[in-house]
Amino acid sequence: MTIKVGIFGSGLVSMHYITGLYRLREGTLKPYGVPFADFKLPYNFTDEEVVTVYDVDEDKVGHELREVIKRNINVDVPIPDSIPQLKIKKGILGGSSAGLDKIFKPIGLDQEIGLEDAIEEITRDLKRSSVDVVLNLISTENVEDVKSVEDLKSRIKEGRLSASQAYAFATYLAAIDSKKPIAFVNFIPSPLANSDVFVELYKEASSVILGDDGATGATPLTADLLEHLKERNRYVRYIVQFNIGGNTDFLALSIPERNLMKEKTKSSIVKDILGYDAPHYIKPTGYIKEIGDRKFVSMDIEWITFNGLIDELIVNMRINDSPALAGLAVDAVRISKALLDKGERGTVYEFNAFFMKNPGPKHMPNISRIRAYYNLLEYLKKREILMN
Ligand SMILES: NC(=O)c1ccc[n+]([C@@H]2O[C@H](COP(=O)([O-])OP(=O)(O)OC[C@H]3O[C@@H](n4cnc5c(N)ncnc54)[C@H](O)[C@@H]3O)[C@@H](O)[C@H]2O)c1
Repeated sequence: MTIKVGIFGSGLVSMHYITGLYRLREGTLKPYGVPFADFKLPYNFTDEEVVTVYDVDEDKVGHELREVIKRNINVDVPIPDSIPQLKIKKGILGGSSAGLDKIFKPIGLDQEIGLEDAIEEITRDLKRSSVDVVLNLISTENVEDVKSVEDLKSRIKEGRLSASQAYAFATYLAAIDSKKPIAFVNFIPSPLANSDVFVELYKEASSVILGDDGATGATPLTADLLEHLKERNRYVRYIVQFNIGGNTDFLALSIPERNLMKEKTKSSIVKDILGYDAPHYIKPTGYIKEIGDRKFVSMDIEWITFNGLIDELIVNMRINDSPALAGLAVDAVRISKALLDKGERGTVYEFNAFFMKNPGPKHMPNISRIRAYYNLLEYLKKREILMN
């Protein structure tokens, strides 16, 4: 039983996912950072197999995946020989190219053959590769949700659809054409599981679209701390949380037109958890190359406790940014495939609430990770996915 995985974006998260996955398959890595490693699920991580990978960076497209990983993972991690011999394919730029040229030379299939044909070409590849699960790990883009299927189609004609929307649509077409359910896991902030139009399309294709924006690093920790304060009825006066990193994700976020979506998904936790909008500043704030992938996070929360006194919590940490999401991705893949097998359609809030910063469907609340974790376990038991 293999799970065939397609990946859009071959950046650091994607490369850590592939490297870690093949080390797990070889038995040379302990599954720390994989949340459900100790639970019995219908699929093991060793069932996951990467079959197709896309990017738009001229230095990556057309190159051997393993070579690109060796060249770009700049930490001391062994790169297994068992990584499949795949060439990275040329993806779509669509309406998402703004600012990318400040990071690398972007090249897109749509520049050559137009957006409509590029989507068709990717649909054909996803069908040919028989993908079960697709991971969206491209650079954060600025996206406006589509209003209707007609709106989506006219944006394709005008070449204005964002890259993630184009990939999600190509995946939907592949599922419809091949009559085979596919899970699209959106780890970036673009509203896809939060888009009524995309959720409906995926229902129609007997598939699932899960998202949005992988929850790692400081945001889930802040969510759990807020839950702790809420449960004790301590009144939060303010929250300050910032991140400074030195990877290309942070570089992309330092470009104003690419940063907007991230601010939106990070800030939704405050009101959803506390029930009031405590003043807050929660943003990825800066890029310093020398910090590398082990980002610096700082947090300051002040609250009113009993007898009107003021308490304060200050947290400083350094976190390996990309491996944190890569570890979650290992479980996200096998759980989303199990959800498909159980006949789930559209999107699955219980999955999203644990794995994502902005859980779809639209208007569903952001809950603390601790609550989301136990809710998901409960849900997986009910659906007979969790077997111990
Ligand atoms: N902990 C985390 O690292 C974390 C947490 C939550 C969300 N995310 C999101 O995951 C995504 C990936 O993060 P990363 O650290 O790997 O970033 P990265 O910059 O290392 O990688 C992004 C990759 O996407 C490629 N890309 C850009 N536009 C593309 C397109 N249109 N089609 C195909 N490929 C494209 C880039 O060339 C690059 O290789 C980012 O959007 C990030 O915000 C990361």
